[in-house]
Amino acid sequence: MQEKLLEKFKELFGADGEIRTYFAPGRVNMIGEHTDYNGGHVFPCALTIGTYGVVRKREDNKLRFYSMNFENLGILESSLDDLKPDPAADWTNYPKGVIWAFGEKGMKITQGMDLLLFGNIPNGSGLSSSASVEVLTGYILKDFYGCDVTNQDIALIGQYSENKFNGVNCGIMDQFAIAMGKKGHAIFLDTATLEYTYAPIELKDAKIVISCSNKKRGLGDSKYNERRAECEKALEEIQQFVGIKSLGDLTEEEFEKFKSAIKDEDRVKRARHAVYENQRTIKAVEALKNNDIELFGKLMNESHVSLRDDYEVTGIELDTLAEEAWKVDGVIGSRMTGAGFGGCSVSIVKNDAVDTFIEQVGKAYEEKIGYAADFYVVEIGDGPSRLA
Ligand code: GLA
Repeated sequence: MQEKLLEKFKELFGADGEIRTYFAPGRVNMIGEHTDYNGGHVFPCALTIGTYGVVRKREDNKLRFYSMNFENLGILESSLDDLKPDPAADWTNYPKGVIWAFGEKGMKITQGMDLLLFGNIPNGSGLSSSASVEVLTGYILKDFYGCDVTNQDIALIGQYSENKFNGVNCGIMDQFAIAMGKKGHAIFLDTATLEYTYAPIELKDAKIVISCSNKKRGLGDSKYNERRAECEKALEEIQQFVGIKSLGDLTEEEFEKFKSAIKDEDRVKRARHAVYENQRTIKAVEALKNNDIELFGKLMNESHVSLRDDYEVTGIELDTLAEEAWKVDGVIGSRMTGAGFGGCSVSIVKNDAVDTFIEQVGKAYEEKIGYAADFYVVEIGDGPSRLA
C-alpha cells in the first residue's frame, strides 16, 4: 500500500526532494466515555488501522494537500500566511489547525508542505479519524521539521487545534490515545492530571470487534458541545456546596449527597453519568488487573446503559448494535464508543463466537435500521511512526 501512496504522491506533486512516509493510528475507547472533559478517567487504545501520510517540505509557504479518501476534492491549496478555519478547506482544516497551533505555541512553521493522506479508518465512525490526522501532522512537524516536542505535547497541541481552530470542545482522550499508543496495551489515563499507565489487554480466547453503525455524524454538528456545557453548569451548582475541581473528584456516594444542588433534571442525569462512568472505569481497570474479564464486560454493558439513559448520546442505531450484541452467546461486553450520536460500538467477543456475532447482529441491525452495519476485528497498535 505504501508503494501505491508514494506513486500517487509523485504523480501529483513530482518526484524530487526528500519524500517521507508516516503513520498515525485511530483509537477505540474501551470504557470511560464523556469523562475526559469532566476530569475523569478514560481507557482507550490505539489501533493498527489509521492514517498514512506521504510528505515533502517545500521551500515556499504553500500548503498542498490531497486525500485519497476524498479524491473528488482534488488538491486543496492554501498557505502558511492564511491559517484560518475555512469550510471550503474541508478536511485540510485539521492539518492546517495543527500547523497554526504549533505557531501559537511558539513554533512558527515557515516552510510549506505537500502532503498526501490515505486513511483506512472508516470516516465519521467514531474511531477518531480527525485526531489521527492531527497527530500525524504534529508528528511530521516533530520528526521532519525538527520541532522540539514530545508525543504528549503533540496530543495537547492537537486538542488545542481541535478546540480553537475547528471549534469542537473535545477532551484530551483521542489525541492522547493516538500519540501515546502502545501495541497490545490500553492507556489508563487520569484526564485531571494526565497521569497514565499502560495496561496489557490479553484476550487469549477473545477479540475486539468494532461494529460501525454507518450513521454519519460530525462532532461539530452533534450535541457534543451541549453535553459539555451541561456538565460544566452542574459542576458549578455542586461547587456551591463542596470544593471540588471537577465531577471526576466525586465518588458515587458523594454525588448522591450533593446532587440536589443541581437545579435541572437533565443536568442531574448528565452529571450522574460523568461521576458513575468515571468510577466504573476505575473498577474496570482493576477487574482487568485481576483477570476478571467477565466483570470488565459487565461494566462495559453498564456504561452503554448509562450513555443511553442518563447521557442520552446513543440513538437507535448504537442501541440496536449494543442490545443485539448482548443477546449473542460469547459476547463478554458491548457498548457504544467515542462521542456517540452514530459512529461505532466496541465489543469483546469470544473467538468462536465472532462469526455468529457478525451474522446475527448484522442481520438484526439491517432489519431494524434499514441499512447495513460494518464489522471490523481490530488489533491494538503503537502510536505514530515514520515508515520510510
Ligand atoms: C470524542 C471526543 C473525546 C471524548 C469522547 C467521548 O471522541 O473527542 O475527547 O470526549 O468523544 O468520550
